[in-house]
Amino acid sequence: MKQGPVLIFDSGVGGLSVASALRQHYPHAGFCYACDNAWLPYGLRDDAALAERIVAVCLAAVAACRPSVLVVACNTASTLALENLRWHLSIPVVGTVPAIKPAAALSRTRHIGLLATRATVGRPYTQELISRFAGDCVVTRVAADPLVSEAEAWLAGRSPDTVRMHAALAPLWEAAQPSDASQTLGTPVLDTVVLGCTHFPLLKPWLAELAPVPLNWVDSGDAIARRVGQVAAALMTSTSDGRCFTTAPATALSAGLARYGFQPAQPLSLM
Ligand code: DGL
Repeated sequence: MKQGPVLIFDSGVGGLSVASALRQHYPHAGFCYACDNAWLPYGLRDDAALAERIVAVCLAAVAACRPSVLVVACNTASTLALENLRWHLSIPVVGTVPAIKPAAALSRTRHIGLLATRATVGRPYTQELISRFAGDCVVTRVAADPLVSEAEAWLAGRSPDTVRMHAALAPLWEAAQPSDASQTLGTPVLDTVVLGCTHFPLLKPWLAELAPVPLNWVDSGDAIARRVGQVAAALMTSTSDGRCFTTAPATALSAGLARYGFQPAQPLSLM
């Protein structure tokens, strides 16, 4: 039986954190990667224009890869355009949303952090997840868009700027340590952080190193991999395994892509 690969889509290299979870769960399956690096970062874009763009890029990537499943490995895109994508496509579409539910289940102090893009932090979809699954938790939301470019830099072979990261993460670190103000207000300290942007798991060693106290870091990789197993009939190797498409030149990423099993990027032409 011939079967299309699993197509993983993100604005940039963040989807590689999801690719890594998928490859661990399904080592014999075929994977293609597509990213809209011409429009990166998605987290700072206008919603209406972005919603249209995501559909156009995903349709072009599906035409190029002929996948059996599309994984939208981007919280910013999924919380905006998942329904629209499902309407346009006849293959299963698996989205990525912040892992609020597992984080709430894990937190002992009942104070969790949500680290995501500005767009994801403010979306009604995110608010619904919080109300549904973390109603009894304090949730500190941190828009950490500078971390997206640090993850991109790391994949292109540069070290992340830890001073810049530390500044973006300051609200989390404050919430993770008891202070006079929190003690007066009776606010519990934060013990668990949702990595609500697929770029951020790529920076986990630096996040853990910069944190003033040990924290639980929760991402969506394993949940997405399990979901792909439920919606795909069978995951088997494909002749397209390892193909990668980008909307802007990405030669600086070739070595990084190879570490995740992907070939140098080919240009993706939009229809
Ligand atoms: N990786 C994307 C996410 O999960 C967003 C990065 C961006 O702002 O483009 O939200």
